[in-house]
Parts: sequence; structure tokens; C-alpha cells
Amino acid sequence: MSKDKVHIFDTTLRDGEQVPGCKLDTEQKLIIAERLDLMGVDVIEAGFPISSPGDFNSVHEISKLVKNASVCGLTRAVKKDIEAAAEALKMAKKPRIHTGIGTSDSHIKFKFNSNKEAIIERAVSAVKYAKTFVEDIEFYAEDAGRTDNEFLARVCEAVIKAGATVLNIPDTTGYCLPEEYGAKIKYLRENVTGIDKAILSCHCHNDLGLATANSIAGVMNGARQIECTINGIGERAGNTSLEEVVMILRQHPTLNLDTNINSKLLYDTSQMVSQKMGVLVQPNKAIVGANAFAHSSGIHQDGVIKNRETYEIIDPADVGVTESSIVLTARSGRAALAYRAKNVGYELTKTQLDQVYEKFLNFADKKKEVLDEDIHGIIAESGISIEIIA
Ligand code: KIV
Ligand code: ZN
Repeated sequence: MSKDKVHIFDTTLRDGEQVPGCKLDTEQKLIIAERLDLMGVDVIEAGFPISSPGDFNSVHEISKLVKNASVCGLTRAVKKDIEAAAEALKMAKKPRIHTGIGTSDSHIKFKFNSNKEAIIERAVSAVKYAKTFVEDIEFYAEDAGRTDNEFLARVCEAVIKAGATVLNIPDTTGYCLPEEYGAKIKYLRENVTGIDKAILSCHCHNDLGLATANSIAGVMNGARQIECTINGIGERAGNTSLEEVVMILRQHPTLNLDTNINSKLLYDTSQMVSQKMGVLVQPNKAIVGANAFAHSSGIHQDGVIKNRETYEIIDPADVGVTESSIVLTARSGRAALAYRAKNVGYELTKTQLDQVYEKFLNFADKKKEVLDEDIHGIIAESGISIEIIA
């Protein structure tokens, strides 16, 4: 049975780039956009055109460059924003305007000093106006995570009637639990007339570390687009991480969902974004962190050397990592030492290994990590007589 497609909407260049210190110039954005397109992203959110002349120009240039993905520009539910986005996107092969407004009680009262009926009216007018420029209109109900489901359903129904093709349900503050977010998507599917005319989209922030779990709960309940960023960068604690959702769907075939992403480009793309934005990837980051395929405890190393699958659920080659690494520390066992010694040219017998291992432990207790170049010294110090094999 063929799997249902989940569209990947990448917002590295918009929500990701909003992070202080992550600012990119147009040239850097073009390089990243080209890579995202090559990797198989379905929608690239290229920026917020009204926000600055530089961002307008980036969206304009990305629109000219991108061959396959839809190119999207963000707006508020404001006419001049929509006009700027339409202008910036006019060269795109597949343009999408992303417009919307806050729908939670807190946003309605404190941001807009307004009321529910007026918010629906503004939402509908924005979608109708955007529709006069392009066919593909995504509507976001900002702070949908804290918006009551009944009102959210009314907003969704009204904007679908006005022509929205995608409904973005952002958990803007990263507040929802996965069950709650999944139930919200299910509620909309069951209670919004005309819902089959639009794609439901998950846009989850990571304030409680639940962005990925919430996005997966969303697609398990019928959403068919996930909004995410490379390395999970984004406002505050970040957005859903692209590499995580792609690999979760791939590693769990029973979900019967997949994306168009070429996962072999994930590691390289993560490095590219990290370098261009000047933000390091945390070493223990799932999928793309430096330690994601590194094994350092003796028990795990012994297992991985016998068979990789004992402690790895992903083949590193599937995400573009050349191989798993066996890291030598004071917690490593003989199997790991023998394996790494062999990599640098020493085939140790059992007796030789016992001798070298003792020296190794003394050395490793003093140093965080034992490197290839240290192995030669440790073997020499152990006093065994051994030649390097070619
Ligand atoms: O988090 C959010 O609500 C957003 C919207 C502007 C889509 O980024
Ligand atoms: Zn966001």
C-alpha cells in the first residue's frame, strides 16, 4: 500500500532566521534555498517581505531561483503586507501567500484589543485579498495551541470558504501536550465543514521540548503538512526539527506516512545551516549531532562492533553520516580498543590486548577522549612488540 505524503514546509529562512544572531544575507539564503529544493522540501518559507527591503529582496531572488518547491512569503492580515508578499513572489513558479492573525483569547484581547467576530472578519478579508494575487493561500491561526477548539473551527471554516488552501494550526508558544495537539487536529477534521478542501498543517514550537512529538501527533490525526526548520532553530527554544520528523516517519513504517525528503542530504544540510548562521549544533542533537552515532560505553561498543543494530535504529549512511564512531574513553572496553587499534594498523592478540588495555585505562583516566594518535604511544609504552600492518 502506498504511503500518504506529509508535505515538508521549511521555515529555516523565516522563523529560523528570526533568531538573534542568525541573520543571513540574500546570498546565504539563496544557497540554503537551493539546497532545500534539492533535498525535496515541498514549501520554502523564504521570508516576511514587508519586514525589510533586504527580506523582500531575498524572497524575490529565491522565487526566481527555486525550481520545484512552492515559495512562500509571510504576512500579517494587513493589506500592505499581502501586497508586498505578492510582489516579492511574482517570479515564483509556485507562489504561496501565508497570512493570518492571532485567535487565542490572549491575542484577541491584548494584541488586538478586539473580539472574536472582528477577528473572523479580518481573517476572511485577508484570505480573500491574498486570493486576488495567488491561488495558493495558507492561513495561520496564531496561538492556535491555546485557542479553544470551537472558535478555531469557526475561523477555519470561514477562511476555507474565503479560499484558503492550507490551514496552519500553530502551537506558537509550545504549550500543548502531544495528546492535546493531536486531539485539536482531529477535532478540526471532524467539525469543520469543507475541511477536505484544505491541508491541515502543524507548526509547533519547542518551549517544552515537545515540538517534534506534537507535530507527529498532528500527522497521526490527519494533518498532512509539517512546518519545521533545519536543526530545529527558531524563536526562543526553536521550531520542530526537520531532520527529526523526516526520520521518525521513515523509521516507523506502520504510520504509513512519508515525505519527499532525500534523507542522505540531512547531515550535510545541517552543517551548512549551522555554519552559515554561526550556530553550533548541540552534540547530542538527534539525527545530526556529533554524538548521534557515537558510542562510548564499553557495553554499547561491544554490541555495535558485533552488530550495528544492537544500539542503532538508523543506518548513519541514510542521513549522510559516513559511519558510526567508537569513541575511546575510560568507560570503553577491550573490544573498542582492539577495534580502534586495528583501524590504525595493529592486530592485537588477546594477551597483547590485556597488556595494552591496562596502559590505555591509565591514560584514559587522565584524558577525556583517546585519539588515534594516542594509540601509538599507548602501545609503545605497554612494551609489547608489534608491527603496524598495511
Ligand atoms: O509560531 C507562529 O505562530 C508563527 C506564525 C507566524 C505562523 O510563526
Ligand atoms: Zn512560529
